[in-house]
Amino acid sequence: AVQETLVLVKPDGVARSLTGEVLRRIEAKGYSLVDIKLVEAERELLAEHYAEHEGKPFFEPLVEFMLSGPIVAIRVAGDRVIEGFRALAGTTDPTTALPGTIRGDLGRDWGLKVQQNLVHGSDSPESAARELALWFK
Ligand code: CMP
Repeated sequence: AVQETLVLVKPDGVARSLTGEVLRRIEAKGYSLVDIKLVEAERELLAEHYAEHEGKPFFEPLVEFMLSGPIVAIRVAGDRVIEGFRALAGTTDPTTALPGTIRGDLGRDWGLKVQQNLVHGSDSPESAARELALWFK
């Protein structure tokens, strides 16, 4: 079924000029760009976006990292795109993410407090609906 998901190119991806590469992979897979914008996120938005991680040791460093520079927010549509984009992104840890994925090919482990892993993709239809409503009000 056709779905929509939220993709974020995180501050490390934007700073490394990898936005075009991420868009290229999304389009090459056959997904459609529905909306896109450059965002300087506010703390409140990030706290809502990452509400499920509140209280975890990486929560504060994660929010600080996401405040460190602009983010590209993208509304992407396609058949099973929620699962499909997560497959394109690869697993959370860029060191062990499989080659062929965005994180596996391009992600670096800097030994920092939080995984600077280039992209975010919604993990379920419920998350996608919630996150799209937050980032595309
Ligand atoms: P993402 O899956 O987009 O959303 C949660 C983020 O938290 C994740 O990407 C990583 O950037 C970060 N993260 C998740 N787990 C850890 C962890 N164990 N240590 C550090 N950062 C993490």
